[in-house]
Amino acid sequence: MAVRIIGTGSYLPKKVADNHFLSTIVDTDDEWIQQRIGIKERHLSNGKEGTTYMAAHAAEAALENAGICAEELDMIIVATVSADTYVPSTSCSVQGAIGAIRATCFDLNAACSGFLFSLNTAYAYIEMGMAKTVLVIGAETLSREVDWSDRSSCILFGDGAGAAIVRWEEGEGGLIASVTGSDGSQGDVLTCKGRGIQNPFHNSKRKKDYLKMEGQAVFRFAVTTVPRCVKQILKKTELDVEDIKFFILHQANLRILELIAKRLKVDIDKFPMNLDRYGNTSSASIPILLDELNRNHLLERGDKIIMSGFGGGLTWGAMLLEW
Ligand code: ACO
Repeated sequence: MAVRIIGTGSYLPKKVADNHFLSTIVDTDDEWIQQRIGIKERHLSNGKEGTTYMAAHAAEAALENAGICAEELDMIIVATVSADTYVPSTSCSVQGAIGAIRATCFDLNAACSGFLFSLNTAYAYIEMGMAKTVLVIGAETLSREVDWSDRSSCILFGDGAGAAIVRWEEGEGGLIASVTGSDGSQGDVLTCKGRGIQNPFHNSKRKKDYLKMEGQAVFRFAVTTVPRCVKQILKKTELDVEDIKFFILHQANLRILELIAKRLKVDIDKFPMNLDRYGNTSSASIPILLDELNRNHLLERGDKIIMSGFGGGLTWGAMLLEW
């Protein structure tokens, strides 16, 4: 049995905010942001482009790419930490928007590891025979969760959505191996205690409710945990870094990715990136990047790729798949 990704899609809001624009909001500059983090610009919701809106657009694009219709979906899982509403879930709202009448729907919160955890969940449902075709989405409107007066965090994030459709097929390959983990004892290094409201830049939340991060602790966590779980995956599958075409990592920060590549002794060219254009879109970053690679025909049948996510919770994971 193979559980394959048969289609991908993404949606980025139209509004682009570059570093110069951010320097009109907080005391920062383009050079500092590019040197420390590698981000030049990010896409931000115009207020109407909420999490459901972006997720549904990414879903439509993935359905078209896969060449299937919404009625064929057995399940929709949306990974998000920035849903428009508690209830209905984003996945149910997406179901309504795209007409996936047969699907069972639920959301999953694992912060920036959410897309990987959702893919694992899809795999498990498929393996149990409870679903055949699953739509997995990562979608975030982080501009609603960010404190736009905190220069150490607001520069990092962007909005967007990415989607992948996985399906059971005969044969080999697809999702092959996975490792995941969590450490709630370190939850305080990255928190978001309140819920967003519809307008980005609208400061109606209490300051302590916004997204808060201990930057250096997150940095240390990422550069130790990701190489460890990538090595676990390689050991499990008896593969070597040379066998891997791409390492598709959560797009948090250029320096984090560079250090991970160095620690794994892998050329940075094997780490595709788009964080310079989109910033950190949490659970959406891996599927947005996957969609770019797919649409640019950079993935060929048989290619082995490793995806890895890491983020709040703390949570982390890595997955090997054969395209
Ligand atoms: N512009 C200009 N100066 C700034 C800015 C800014 N946007 N932000 C902070 N500074 C200043 C600080 O005030 C401080 O000034 P001081 O020395 O006068 O006090 C100085 O820069 C250094 O601040 P630090 O916080 O010590 O900066 P650091 O070197 O740790 O870099 C950074 C901060 C880039 C956030 C770093 O900690 C980092 O990369 N952390 C990883 C965080 C990350 O990527 N998180 C992603 C989200 S979580 C996830 O996706 C898993």
